[in-house]
Amino acid sequence: MTDPAFDADTLRERALTTLTTARARTTLLTSCVEEPDLTAQHSPLMSPLVWDLAHIGNQEEMWLLRAVGGREAMRPEIDGLYDAFEHPRAERPSLPLLPPAEARHYASEVRGRVLDILESTAFHGTRLTEAGFAFGMIAQHEQQHDETMLITHQLRKGPQALTAPDPDPVPLFTGPSEVLVPGGPFTMGTSTEPWALDNERPAHRREVPAFYMDTTPVTNAAFQAFIADGGYDTERWWTPEGWAHIRQHSIHAPLYWHRDGKQWLRRRFGVTEVVPPDEPVLHVCWYEADAYARWAGRRLPTETEWEKAARHDPAGNRSTRYPWGDADPAPEHANLGQRHLRPAPAGSYPEGESPLGIRQLIGDVWEWTASDFLPYPGFQAFPYKEYSEVFFGPEHKVLRGGAFAVDPVACRGTFRNWDYPIRRQIFSGFRTARSAGDA
Ligand code: AVJ
Ligand code: FE
Repeated sequence: MTDPAFDADTLRERALTTLTTARARTTLLTSCVEEPDLTAQHSPLMSPLVWDLAHIGNQEEMWLLRAVGGREAMRPEIDGLYDAFEHPRAERPSLPLLPPAEARHYASEVRGRVLDILESTAFHGTRLTEAGFAFGMIAQHEQQHDETMLITHQLRKGPQALTAPDPDPVPLFTGPSEVLVPGGPFTMGTSTEPWALDNERPAHRREVPAFYMDTTPVTNAAFQAFIADGGYDTERWWTPEGWAHIRQHSIHAPLYWHRDGKQWLRRRFGVTEVVPPDEPVLHVCWYEADAYARWAGRRLPTETEWEKAARHDPAGNRSTRYPWGDADPAPEHANLGQRHLRPAPAGSYPEGESPLGIRQLIGDVWEWTASDFLPYPGFQAFPYKEYSEVFFGPEHKVLRGGAFAVDPVACRGTFRNWDYPIRRQIFSGFRTARSAGDA
């Protein structure tokens, strides 16, 4: 790749900036509440915040100090505590975790040594150091846990601890509700994006029949129409598993919503507010997204359709890094990076739209797709099987595009997220599609 954005000096600078801004976010997320809120488990679905903090440091130590730097383990006795596979989340609060001050100290000791290694490591020679991959991977790992910690903050009961400005008001979106994505092949995945993770590789051609794609994510107003029409009480909109799930758990609305007389309210980071009609719906599980789509006479897009909509440039007949082209995400393109603690209204970010006029593919809300999380042809686990490979299979559905909680560096047109179809504490929404053959 001869792209100047990918030369070694630029990537080294980018690694430093990314590690530093991720740590600033981690620090904010772990210093805006008192100690008891760091060590408590706010939901059995999540770790105590203090676990994320030391786990971030431990992964960084393992990959950057030991694997890249050849250093000895600093505290080998703690490795097991912070191995996500040794202890499921529900067990983590009962482990002898490092207390907050020690966890902070450990993570910052690791970081100090990493900065020396970053300066002295050649960005070529081994697969781990090529283009600074390991540094990019670890910076993204921290950003992913910054999102995880934000999920924990949203689950946490109690007064508001985090604040952020709202997105700027925008004129109501007046574009078409869907556009035709013409049929034909496109290149999915990447072999050139330097910090793309293993499951995004390699680039490969895919044939995609013509389909229609929503120009914006599904809004709260649209989802409320589904609820008002008895969507949660009508078995035929649901898959058998989805129906059983919502019945068993008495699910009647997105997570964090409750009914107050005539209106829907929601709790968002410690504040209760009216559900804003124009905002993309948030905190729905795959089953809810799938049922809504069927009610609307539509379906969820496949992962392949989603990526074609987000990356195929018909004029250049090639795949771009993002819907708007190859430039790194800037604030005018997308709602990313926890700058806002909510999605922006549907139809925001005209500068981030795709060549066909599809908006908000990147940022705002993760978008459920119809697809299972599976490897691409030619997939190779790198550098460890536990990032992606152990999760491949029909039990996980793919989400695309990132949310307001996701850092721009951890989000690309090729980035793949996955989760169980019952999950809704994640920042998940969706858009719908239909095949072009359908009336
Ligand atoms: C890609 C969000 C599914 O949180 O399980 C963090 C990211 N992997 N540490 C997860 C991850 C290892 C992962 N997801
Ligand atoms: Fe992790």
